[in-house]
Amino acid sequence: MAAVQTSRPAGQPDIDYAPDLDKYLARTQRRLQKEPLHEQPLPEGFPKTLVSDFVWEDQDLEKTYQWVYELNDQEIAEIEEALGHFKSPQRGRQDNTFDGKPADVVLNHIKDLSLVVDKSLIGAPAYTADKQVFHTDSGDVVSLFALNTSASGGQSKLASTWRVYNELAATRPDLIRTLSETWVADNFENKQKPYLLKPLLFHQPSTDKTPERVILQYARRIFTGYQALPRSANIPPITEAQAEALDALHYLGERFHLGLDVRQGDIQYVNNLALFHARDGFVDTPEQQRHLIRLWLRDPEHAWPTPEVLSERWSQLYDGVTPENQVFPLEPRIRSSGRGQAKEEKPGQNIPVDCAAPPHPGIARLLYMHYSN
Ligand SMILES: [Fe+2]
Repeated sequence: MAAVQTSRPAGQPDIDYAPDLDKYLARTQRRLQKEPLHEQPLPEGFPKTLVSDFVWEDQDLEKTYQWVYELNDQEIAEIEEALGHFKSPQRGRQDNTFDGKPADVVLNHIKDLSLVVDKSLIGAPAYTADKQVFHTDSGDVVSLFALNTSASGGQSKLASTWRVYNELAATRPDLIRTLSETWVADNFENKQKPYLLKPLLFHQPSTDKTPERVILQYARRIFTGYQALPRSANIPPITEAQAEALDALHYLGERFHLGLDVRQGDIQYVNNLALFHARDGFVDTPEQQRHLIRLWLRDPEHAWPTPEVLSERWSQLYDGVTPENQVFPLEPRIRSSGRGQAKEEKPGQNIPVDCAAPPHPGIARLLYMHYSN
């Protein structure tokens, strides 16, 4: 088994993918002792408080919404019929090669592959049974379908990034500034572009047609590294302020999150621009293995305007995806951006893993986190 690299760029703060509460609290104390950061103003134009249905905590969500909707037979028939017409190219491209050839891979399997794949291949926690910390995916809407759940653990968590925003704006406006400034995002083994420069938090003032919005887009592993993809040693480190901001996001997500009781057959659509998500570590058995399939969707009619800095990424996701080129892999595989040292996928290298149990026959509970605003 190939060794997993553990080097860091010089000056990288002491922070790992797995958050450490003691280190987080010590870092906060150290930074606030040095300077009254919490007294700094918010960045220009950012609101003191967001007032919107997007601001919620676990306790008030259940009171406000009947957010688990069980479909009756007639509704299921209607969905089946709609599926027959579902030819939209607005499925996002999650990978651009399949079996070593160019392709628009629009479906991804979320499954622990750590027992069947060398560790040096796995650079993203989605392919392990590890805890996954709070993060967003790419794209406008994340859709998950639960083929099966784990034998134990693995609870999915959702939290309002707008609620987290309000907390930070009220207590640590300096971290709102930090999040809205440019960060060095690791592009891992991409030799042409070893890193990308972008903020994590975007503010969109209201217009005639749209209300004021904030958008959070980030994955912690891009700044800390994960397993076979450690933070690249040849790119600039993140700063102490950024390390604190990453932990602040995660722990506020934990504080305000809603835990989901995901069952086999559940479908989930999440506004990936206003919510972020996490999941607990889990244990599979040979008989029962957590297995989700994921789409990254965009509703052309209701999509929020994409921040300029993210437009290149959004083009990679959504531009030119054609029905002819779309690939829906039937077996779990590690997509290129989550793959470690063996970057090139060769024909026949897909990982055959049997689904332990067939998907639930038909019935799906629909968890629809409000998408319009
Ligand atoms: Fe995710």
